[in-house]
Amino acid sequence: MYWKGLLHHYRDLLPVSEKTPSLSLNEGNTPLVPLPHLSKLWGVELYAKYEGANPTGSFKDRGMVMAVAKAKEEGYEAVICASTGNTSAAAAAYAARAKMRCIILIPDGKVAMGKLAQAVMYGAEIYTIEGNFDQALKMVQSISKKAPISLVNSVNPHRIEGQKTAAFEVCDQLGSAPDVLAIPVGNAGNITAYWKGFKEYHQAHQSGLPRMHGFEAEGAAAIVRGRAIENPETVATAIRIGNPASWEHAVNASQESSGTIDEVTDTEILSAYKELAREEGVFCEPASAASLAGVKKQVQSGKIEKGAKVVAVLTGNGLKDPNCAIESSSFKAEVLPNNEEAIFDLIKERVKQ
Ligand code: F0G
Repeated sequence: MYWKGLLHHYRDLLPVSEKTPSLSLNEGNTPLVPLPHLSKLWGVELYAKYEGANPTGSFKDRGMVMAVAKAKEEGYEAVICASTGNTSAAAAAYAARAKMRCIILIPDGKVAMGKLAQAVMYGAEIYTIEGNFDQALKMVQSISKKAPISLVNSVNPHRIEGQKTAAFEVCDQLGSAPDVLAIPVGNAGNITAYWKGFKEYHQAHQSGLPRMHGFEAEGAAAIVRGRAIENPETVATAIRIGNPASWEHAVNASQESSGTIDEVTDTEILSAYKELAREEGVFCEPASAASLAGVKKQVQSGKIEKGAKVVAVLTGNGLKDPNCAIESSSFKAEVLPNNEEAIFDLIKERVKQ
């Protein structure tokens, strides 16, 4: 069957009417990849929901197709968002497709190169601010109230509607909900969307409910600490957020589902990021690896029981942040003479090591 994207496939479960433009970049329907090697190492049945396979390389496409389509339907000619990078890439792509103006505010120096390249290519108006995501979000919330510009951050309920479809897919791919859904938490929109999706699908199809385990980066762990973090810091720039807009919804999702909101260190994130690529051939961006790092930590502590069926959401593609991959590895380009024999000798040498 030819996949026509989320607004077509899930139209009965989304706020789609005859008036809604049929916007699509064929987003959704992403693979649920079994992780057999990590499963064996960690003693759980582990899968990755690989959201890096979406058209702009992150889960944001699910929410953005819905939010931009509704903005167009409501007569807006422009959309605006604050972003750590992925939201702006997705907003820019769907705005281009819908022939709308796209305005984005991003924190200076903290947006991964791949994401910035996307926003540039899709033709967004990019404003880089001397401030962080939380401050940028406040500004766009205020600007969208003063001007006829639709705010497409995840405080826009249409974003949550679009993103809940990932939970539907997980249930269909596994045959039912997993025991645990592990997910990175930044602004907390996605954990909110997944929980809504699991509940709706369970009502309609008795698909069961997972425990929701959200993971913040230690240097940005506002929910875990119970207070906003003024200057959040983490290598996982996508979740470098100190005052999550959907804070209460995230707490609610974890409590209602008997799950947890926990934190992982940058060291744990980078270690899971590398282990996933080396062991399984799956490359995600650093923030995405927070979900896996969290699973590893909680299996070790016993919070996740051995044998549990666990789905870790890998929210973004590894190619989004090539600098992190190179800088966190010991790789150094070593230029050799243009001589096959010398190269073969080296290759043989390395086998012995
Ligand atoms: N993973 C990635 C790769 C992200 O880009 C984000 C959020 C998250 C996880 C966290 O999701 O905010 O719904 O809890 N990125 C936003 C952005 C903030 O601007 O791209 P959340």
